[in-house]
Amino acid sequence: MDGCGRHIDHLRLSLTERCNLACQYCSAGHDATSCRIDADFAIALVRWLSSRHAVRHVRLTGGEPLLHPEVTEIVGALSSLGPLDEITLTTNGQALTARASRLRQAGLTRINISLDTLRPDRFARLTRGGELARTLRGIEAAIAAELNPVRLNVVVQRGVNDDELGDLASWGLERGCTVRFLEVMPIGPMIETIRSQLVPAAEVLGRLSESFALTPVSAPPGQPATDFAAVGLRGGPSGRIGVIASSTRPFCSRCRRLRITARGEILSCLFDTGGSSLAAAWDGQELDEDAADRMLQAAVMAKPHLGHRSQRKQMISIGG
Ligand code: 5AD
Repeated sequence: MDGCGRHIDHLRLSLTERCNLACQYCSAGHDATSCRIDADFAIALVRWLSSRHAVRHVRLTGGEPLLHPEVTEIVGALSSLGPLDEITLTTNGQALTARASRLRQAGLTRINISLDTLRPDRFARLTRGGELARTLRGIEAAIAAELNPVRLNVVVQRGVNDDELGDLASWGLERGCTVRFLEVMPIGPMIETIRSQLVPAAEVLGRLSESFALTPVSAPPGQPATDFAAVGLRGGPSGRIGVIASSTRPFCSRCRRLRITARGEILSCLFDTGGSSLAAAWDGQELDEDAADRMLQAAVMAKPHLGHRSQRKQMISIGG
């Protein structure tokens, strides 16, 4: 428990800083010099946090976690540890088709896939070179592998993709996905551009209500999203839609997260500018859990009451 009484039981673990895309709100461009976490180190960290401490949810992030060559083995090892309730992963879906069913078999419980547009040309521009059809195939593969409910993350950006909100919602709901609309967060070198692109969640919901009747549904503790049961008007599809209002309604008071970067750095908040690295407690084979405990204690106690909302680090290096 941190100094504000928040139970920290969610870990976001970045497997690699590499990504096969370079979305403008996440990274400054394709970067050749990026590192990945050692698989045994990653597993030892989760073993420590779930046995000595009370971490119960692990989300694998990046960069693009599927670019870690041992991602399936890591999922398998985490699932055989025992205490975790959930092992989830956030991906851009580009390399998912061939892996979805193996990840499911290894013990992955759910998956979030980023999808900001349904237009191939726009997708290529936003992601600096991505191929929309590959991500769409990846989503279909995740559905076929029963990584249910598959969640689609849409980062809403004014003047960029805010003319597609209804289409994205319908596309996802028709396939049984939950569709989450995220306010773009002012993180990274493009902060000023990002600020000018923010579409408040209330406005997103206003636009979606032109196509869906929305009724709020209650969320489990620690969930940053506000979810709605959506019933399609004029014969449209129904299902679940959510918004994550990180800027207009920060959920810091309910935050249960701790982050570890692909470099082993422990971050108590998305806006944490960094400090100690757990790599110092890892000798290549064993984790010095007492040393790691001291770093954890310091990080958790420093977890801010409210994130100070200014971060020059790129999202790709923090782990999304
Ligand atoms: N604002 C909001 N969401 C972001 N993501 C990455 N960068 C940002 C940002 N600046 C999202 C990705 C992915 C999730 C891990 O975080 O689209 O869905």
